[in-house]
Amino acid sequence: MSEINSIGVVGAGFMGSGIAESAARAGVSVVVHEPTERALERSRERIAESVSRAVERSKLSEAEAAELKERITWTTQFHDLGGSQLVIEAVTEDLGVKAGVFDHLDALMPADVILASNTSSIPIAELASHTENPGRVLGLHFFAPVPVMKLVEVVVALETSAEAVARAEEFAAAIGKTAIRTKDRSGFVVNFLLVPFLMAAVRMYEEGFASREDIDEGMKLGCGHPMGPLALCDLIGLDVLHSVCDALYEEFKQNEYAPPPLMKRMVAAGHLGRKAGRGFYNYSPAEGADSGPRQEEVVGAPRPWGAAGP
Ligand code: 3HC
Repeated sequence: MSEINSIGVVGAGFMGSGIAESAARAGVSVVVHEPTERALERSRERIAESVSRAVERSKLSEAEAAELKERITWTTQFHDLGGSQLVIEAVTEDLGVKAGVFDHLDALMPADVILASNTSSIPIAELASHTENPGRVLGLHFFAPVPVMKLVEVVVALETSAEAVARAEEFAAAIGKTAIRTKDRSGFVVNFLLVPFLMAAVRMYEEGFASREDIDEGMKLGCGHPMGPLALCDLIGLDVLHSVCDALYEEFKQNEYAPPPLMKRMVAAGHLGRKAGRGFYNYSPAEGADSGPRQEEVVGAPRPWGAAGP
């Protein structure tokens, strides 16, 4: 089995950019595809910011940072992915859009190229059904922020071949991640456990049980979590979480997975979290807020016990 040293990433949002950065940092050549220049530019900026931070913190030298960026090729042309040994799809969490990507990838990529999805909610078997060779299709589920989080879930679908799994695990290790294997069940391992916890925090806030700060501080200081559940919802994106909740609820029909009414409304209002400048906290520099919940401008007045959500 040849080592994977060139990959393609389809979709250069928060997750796709993080995957590209992590792979390039490990010496892998990456072709990043987005259909528009504007989206590619945003991804370039994201990666440049992240790499600069790593240089500032002496995690990377200037020369290593320059090499990392040179390993990434940016393209709006789908056929430029053609030389990759593995392609990771990280487009929007929508079955129709992802299925379209798999249709195109299957037509373009030689049969020995692994096709992976970073989906957090769509069955891999469903995406594999859009290919002639479902044995090469699996899930590679990364965690946000990708350059920091060490885990990758390798999602083994009904027809995924043992060779594809072995190569994907080897790739994960080569880019410094630890792989765990999971069946193709909604939520895989981590979201199956994480989402009920996050949704319990949303419901708690919705009911005015405690302020967002106290809920988050409680889990940070009481349980040693690196960030509180509401800040984590903002980091992941409420729209993404909504899709994951829907998928989990659809699969298991348990109330703990149902998206809470407040979250549905926040998604409808565009309060999607950090990426939108506003979620449970406010991140918009225009409004004088900082990038994290500690420094943010409070959305509305500080809430006393019993006050309603945003
Ligand atoms: N990109 C690159 N690096 C980043 C980063 C980013 N977006 N954000 C933070 N970092 C790096 C920093 O440079 C720093 O690196 P260093 O230790 O090498 O100097 C390190 O992460 C710590 O960052 P900070 O000191 O700025 O901040 P914190 O110590 O507060 O850590 C955090 C930030 C890493 C986000 C931490 O709060 C954390 O681990 N939070 C939990 C994240 C989590 O649970 N993610 C999983 C989400 S679930 C998911 O993604 C699945 C999906 O399907 C829903």
